[in-house]
Amino acid sequence: MILPSASLRYRSRDTEYRYRPDSELYYLSGATEPETLLVLVGGDDPRFVLFVRPRDAGAELWAGPRLGPDAATERYGADECYSVAELDEKLPGLLQEGDRLHYRLGAEERTDGFVRKALAWARGSGMRRGTGPRGLVDPGEILDELRLRKDVEEVEAIRVAARISAEGHRSGAAVIAEGVGEWIVEAAVDAGFRAAGANGPGFPTIVGSGTNACTLHYVENRDTIDDEALVLIDAGAEVAMYNGDITRTYPAAGGFSDTQRDVYRIVEAARRAAVEQVSPGVTIASVHEAAARTILEGLVGLGVLSGPMEELFSEAAYRLFFPHQTSHWLGLDVHDPGDYAKAGESRVLEPGMVFTIEPGLYFRPEACEDAAARFSGIGVRIEDDVLVTDDGCEVLTAALPTGESEVEDLVGAR
Ligand code: GLY
Ligand code: MN
Ligand code: MN
Repeated sequence: MILPSASLRYRSRDTEYRYRPDSELYYLSGATEPETLLVLVGGDDPRFVLFVRPRDAGAELWAGPRLGPDAATERYGADECYSVAELDEKLPGLLQEGDRLHYRLGAEERTDGFVRKALAWARGSGMRRGTGPRGLVDPGEILDELRLRKDVEEVEAIRVAARISAEGHRSGAAVIAEGVGEWIVEAAVDAGFRAAGANGPGFPTIVGSGTNACTLHYVENRDTIDDEALVLIDAGAEVAMYNGDITRTYPAAGGFSDTQRDVYRIVEAARRAAVEQVSPGVTIASVHEAAARTILEGLVGLGVLSGPMEELFSEAAYRLFFPHQTSHWLGLDVHDPGDYAKAGESRVLEPGMVFTIEPGLYFRPEACEDAAARFSGIGVRIEDDVLVTDDGCEVLTAALPTGESEVEDLVGAR
């Protein structure tokens, strides 16, 4: 298996984004420096080989210290560690050892070149010697499954990210008021994350007031909050590479109007129903179904949808107002890898899995006719992070309340 590090990315011209190490490389090795390459050799002589940047006084003056091969061997427990300057010399030989290569073509141009050459070599000389890679497999085939089940240290890391995510939300909710810019709320959330020791937000913080809450990934955060508006904050902190992901929806006035309350109650009931469903042995699809059924019943109760319940459910009539899934895996990536279904069968939950529960209801003005008209412009999402335990689940984000009156109390609370 070959895993290159993430590339440095440029924001514009020569200005770099802050570096974010590659999740897979970090998962297997803990390595965080750019230009690192990990090679795992299987077979009779299994080895963990690392290539890292050499020490360089000039470069280190600008960008900070590098480990270099000697210190990296010690730090990461590699069997062999070389400078990346030795890639040309060492890598081709390593790639000829196995018959299958786990590598994602396109991951990195230079490594792509080595892999193509190794495959070509195996088709030629390798055939006579009986060695060399004949198959290329995505590393995710192994790593996605491993990453789906979090170990104790990972759960602890997510727990901290969830706690700090909740703190950032409190900071954001505290500045919500009529006339305040969405960007002010965003700044308060992100400052809360940083002040609590997070690397920062794991994804651009969403602060959508009024109709903006109906845009699922609204990140412009450029409008001013109206007095009657709901304010949806979807934000999560990244701490030590692991992520939290929380959404709450707050009434700017400090209290929900009757129509807002009607919608909020349905989404909160859907969140609860989904959480109650989580337990080892049940499928991730059944968690979504619990949320979707509650949303559907709520919409029928409001008179927005009508007809026989099972028919409405089987045609997913709720999707006009609840167009996304209830869950995604959570970990090193906010949308962590792992199959949700295989061969048409939904994934069965196991202890150690971590995922979000985030039902929502969005009354986009263009989708609101007749009975839905009085809800036009209302968007509500409530998102928690849950860990599957031996006998049920633990809500990792329970420190941030979801109940109506408690959410009202968070608005403007300093
Ligand atoms: N903020 C992205 C998500 O909740 O999935
Ligand atoms: Mn999410
Ligand atoms: Mn989210």
